[in-house]
Parts: sequence; C-alpha cells; structure tokens
Amino acid sequence: MEVKADSRKFYEIECDALVVGIFEGEKPDEGTLAELDKRIGGVLASLIETGEFSGKAGESAYVHNTGEMKSRRLLLLGAGKREDFTPDQVRRMAGTAARSLRGKKARNFAFLRRSQLAMGEAAQAATEGALLALFDPDKYHTSDKTENHLETMILATTEGDVEELKRGVERGRVIAEATNFGREIINEPSNVMTPTALAQKAEDVAKDYGLELDVLDEARMRELGMGSLLGVAQGSAEPAKMIVLRYTPKSESDETIAIVGKGVTFDTGGISIKPSDGMEKMKYDMAGGATTLAAMRAVAQLKPSVNVIGIVPAVENMPGGRAQRPGDVVRAMTGKTIEVINTDAEGRLILADAVAYARRLGATKIVDLATLTGAVSIALGDVYVAILGNNQGWVDSVIAAGKKSGEKLWQLPLDKEYREQIKSEIADIKNVGGRKAGTITGAYFIREFVEDTPWAHLDIAGTAWNDSNKPYLSVGPTGVCVRTLVNLVCG
Ligand code: BES
Ligand code: MN
Ligand code: ZN
Repeated sequence: MEVKADSRKFYEIECDALVVGIFEGEKPDEGTLAELDKRIGGVLASLIETGEFSGKAGESAYVHNTGEMKSRRLLLLGAGKREDFTPDQVRRMAGTAARSLRGKKARNFAFLRRSQLAMGEAAQAATEGALLALFDPDKYHTSDKTENHLETMILATTEGDVEELKRGVERGRVIAEATNFGREIINEPSNVMTPTALAQKAEDVAKDYGLELDVLDEARMRELGMGSLLGVAQGSAEPAKMIVLRYTPKSESDETIAIVGKGVTFDTGGISIKPSDGMEKMKYDMAGGATTLAAMRAVAQLKPSVNVIGIVPAVENMPGGRAQRPGDVVRAMTGKTIEVINTDAEGRLILADAVAYARRLGATKIVDLATLTGAVSIALGDVYVAILGNNQGWVDSVIAAGKKSGEKLWQLPLDKEYREQIKSEIADIKNVGGRKAGTITGAYFIREFVEDTPWAHLDIAGTAWNDSNKPYLSVGPTGVCVRTLVNLVCG
C-alpha cells in the first residue's frame, strides 16, 4: 500500500472513503466538523444527538450517502478524549480504518488530519498503523485468503510541512515493513523455519540492505567454548547457528549496541518435555530472534550514528537420543559452569553464550529479547513487556523508546536476593529457580553472563503472539519491540 499526502479540502479528495476522527464530546457546530456535517446533510449531528456515536475510542460509524463530497463513503472513528490523544491513538485509528475498509473492498481512503500532534510523528504513526494492520497470518490458506484491494492511503492535511510529513511516512514505512517481515518469519511453522532457514533470512537482510553477516556453525561455537548453547542444540537433528548481523555507521563511533534475540525455532521442552496441549505455539519461541533481524533491517535503512550488532542464537529444543539430561553440567563460553535442572529453561542457556559473544564482539550496551518465561504472562498478561536490567539509565532509555513507539514496558526488580534461587550445589549456577519470581530468576541467570556491561532484558513471552485481533495487530505474531528497538537505536 502506498501512502501519499493531499493538501486539498477534505471534500475535494476523490476516494473510496474519507476517515474522520471525532473526539469525545465534540459537536459539529464549528470549523471542519460543521463543514462536514453540512455537506452530509446533518447526519453527523444526528448520530451524536441520538447517542449512536459519542467519539469514544474504538467506536465507528459508516456513512453511505456522503452528499456534497467527492469521497464515496465516510468512516467516522471515535478518537477518545482530546487530552489523551497520542500518536498511538493515530496508529490504532489508521489500523482500524485500513482493516475495516479492506473488508469493504475499498481501493483507497483518505485520513483527515484533525489533531495538533507533530506532523512527522502523526504521519509515521498513521503509516505504521495501516501497514501493520494489513498483515494477515493466513499464508498457507490455499483458498479464501484475505483479499487486499487497498492500494493507497491519503493523508489529508491543508496545513503543515509536507517534507516533514514525507519523512514521517518514510520512517513509518521502513519500520512497519521490517516489523511485518519479522512477523512473517515468526508465523512460519517450525518445519519451515529451522535454525538454518533463519540464518538464510539473515542473509537475505544482509544482501538486500547492506549489512555484514557472519553465521557461526557448531564447530566454530565449540571452538569458542559455547557449551551452554550446544547442550540445548544436541537433542535436535537440526544444526544450531549463531547469526551475527553488523551495521557500521559512516563516521566512527565508540558505542556498539548489541541486540540479542532468542531464536528457539521450536521448543518441545527437551527431556523435560512440555504437555502436548498448546505445544504447537512453541513455534513462536524464535520471536526474539526474528525481531532482531527485523530491527536490523530497519537500522540498515535508517542509518543511525552508532554501531549495531544483531545476534541470534538459533537452535531447536528437542528430546532426541543425544539430548541433554536434567542434572547435566555444561560450561558456558565465559567459563561458568551450569547445572541444567530443567531442559525446558533453554532460552537462558543459549542467551548465556550469545550475550557473552556480544561482549566478545565489543558491545558497549546490550539489549536482549526473548520469549523466556510463561511466568511473565501471569504477571503482566498480554499488555506489558517485562523489562529487567543491571543499569537503570539503560533500562530507562529502553522504556522511553517504548513509550515513543506505543509499546508498553514494565520494569521488574532484579535485586541480589534473587541470586539465592539459582545457586547450585554442584556448579556455579543452575538454570531454574523454582516457582517463585520465574521471570526474575530467568533474567538473573542471563545477568550472570553480561557481567558489567549495561544490559536490559525484555521478556516478550506474553506479548509476542496475539490470541485475538487488536486494533492494528491481527491474531498471530505481533512483532512486539521492533519499533522500540529501532527507536532506541535510531533516536
Ligand atoms: N519458551 C518457553 C517460555 C514460553 C512459555 C514462551 C509460554 C511463550 C509462551 C521457555 O523456554 C520455557 O519453557 N520456560 C519455562 C521455564 C521454566 C522451566 C523455569 C516456563 O516458563 O515454564
Ligand atoms: Mn522452554
Ligand atoms: Zn523456550
């Protein structure tokens, strides 16, 4: 779908539908709304008077007879309270408009600017909302696939800086297309998206957008002493890969941000096998890895002034004949020994070696993201991503980037006392800490391998997959945190 600007009056724009946001409590007695109401013969005033439409966020009304306008239809959307209006509300409205008008076979629609939000930010949010909303997870339907006739979204505004608008649209497009690329990868079944296939996706990104790529095979990982990752990989017939994408800015920078994403292409639990009910969902256990590739794709296009490395430890967690056993002790790349109490706590085992490798490659700051614990859904549901870290300044930067992106992150504590739970009798550390504070002990384990590098950990197990449709995100993979990471790195 193309996004373009049009500076004509709203009633002069020829299109299949004009989309207008109405704030709560607004009446069409002056300005644009009065003009609109007059042209459609008082329908808006009557919808509001009868209480059929009040402007509450999420409300909508579809008007057929548009009278004195060149648009064939009118879609009214509740914009909520004016004082609560944010770019994320624009994202939701653009998404709702795109999805609902696609369902009505529209080819184009115009979205009328009615807020005081900064032009670039609003244009970016509208572009993101619409493009993200058009993603559907039905790739393997051989019939009745969702049909998309939408070709154009027109941003209708009579004032403001068109160049700023265009920059916003461009940034929104880069980020949304990267996110959808990540969502496609997450959505693939695990017989398709193996560690090798994931590495191939990284190669596509490297080639298409000009990044350096290095894919470590098991032999190289063994040489580096990555016993923690290899222990997880050994139960599967699929060879593990450590994928490394590197972006280098034009002028030298002494800052290197590492994005590290868990890439478990399927998580059976290993010998500590999961119950079969719902196990099919464990294909999304590589969401962190796919998000890393997606963020790197956007970084390559937006060209920030810092070094960025994307690292994806990719393995399949299977209970094969060579699988590691509960009680096994493995040695990580840093030299630390780990007692593997539960082979289903595999994410932290592969991340231990991945964050250590990030440091080896010169990372000055690390952010990892992982579908690490079921416990995070118990704590925060599907609303907030959990964030934990060893450096408050860095954690705050990530939370701020999330706010800017319309993605919610909630910090959980990581006090020293929690270290007690992962003490082992036989080794330096064990990989589970009992039922209490599962998300925290998971993060604490990773902390032991980042040592003193500023680090933030994002647990996306509760948010990476939608069980039902949301305003701009369909059922299925959400691509959560691509926007946050891109805003974090690209400012
Ligand atoms: N991949 C799972 C976590 C997960 C659960 C992701 C549900 C998405 C939805 C992870 O590898 C796992 O199995 N974690 C265990 C850890 C436990 C054994 C300490 C869990 O959360 O039960
Ligand atoms: Mn697991
Ligand atoms: Zn897992």
